[in-house]
Amino acid sequence: MDGHVLAAQSVATARSTLLTAGTALTHALSGRLASAGWVIASFPPELPDTLLRQAAAGVLSGVGQPFYSIDGGRGLWLDSLAALDRDPHSFGGVGAQAVHIDAPNVTEPPDYTSLLMLCPDPAGGGKSVIADLRAAADQLDEHDRELLTRPVFAEGRAERLHGIGEPLPTFPILDERPSKHTWIRWAGKLLTDDRNTAYLPVLTRFASLLEATARQVLLRRGDLLIADQRRVAHGRTALGRQDQLVPAARRLLCQAKVRFDANAPIHELLRWAA
Ligand SMILES: [Fe+2]
Repeated sequence: MDGHVLAAQSVATARSTLLTAGTALTHALSGRLASAGWVIASFPPELPDTLLRQAAAGVLSGVGQPFYSIDGGRGLWLDSLAALDRDPHSFGGVGAQAVHIDAPNVTEPPDYTSLLMLCPDPAGGGKSVIADLRAAADQLDEHDRELLTRPVFAEGRAERLHGIGEPLPTFPILDERPSKHTWIRWAGKLLTDDRNTAYLPVLTRFASLLEATARQVLLRRGDLLIADQRRVAHGRTALGRQDQLVPAARRLLCQAKVRFDANAPIHELLRWAA
């Protein structure tokens, strides 16, 4: 690491590998990211954790500049071992997590977020949920669209974060002139934040439109989910019963972020394809 970003030498090495030995992978990733806004790269589950983390960081280098926004003290990947004493709806909690983009409440949300599964929930729960933000926004009527473009929404607190700009105390969910470059700053927690009570009806309607687009996928060990945050929101179903599991056996998921980089192999490929 170089501060909160993956070191330039590591990024360069990964990219040159992708452009030589990894061309089939790069083509597959770019095609799926362009069409759906998310993709899963599957690494051999028998690889040790260290190699899975390195391989996944290499693939993320193909998409852009990998970085962490929260310092977990262990480099690029922020680990979350499922824990009963955590907020059940948070990263690392055991309850369902409503779909959201990571850090909607800052000036520069991460362009991509990624989740690397090292140990799925032995109790069989914790499916990942992916929902299509743009498809949901397209279903809004004019009145609701106007309400969601008001810069009045508040969600959580952005504190001690790296590489994602400045905190926004309030923000619009939709841009006035939506395009493929604009944000849809959505988080399910908007519905339970007291600061948004006056807008609860429109938030509930958008949540329901988004829910209708949702897909569930169970990540296996070695699966890396990459999500384009301008296009899709992510969340999780509840984990299964944890009371028979020793803590070390519980679900272990890691996250890392990626900043868009036009020179990354996947974007070069997409420009070439266009
Ligand atoms: Fe998240």
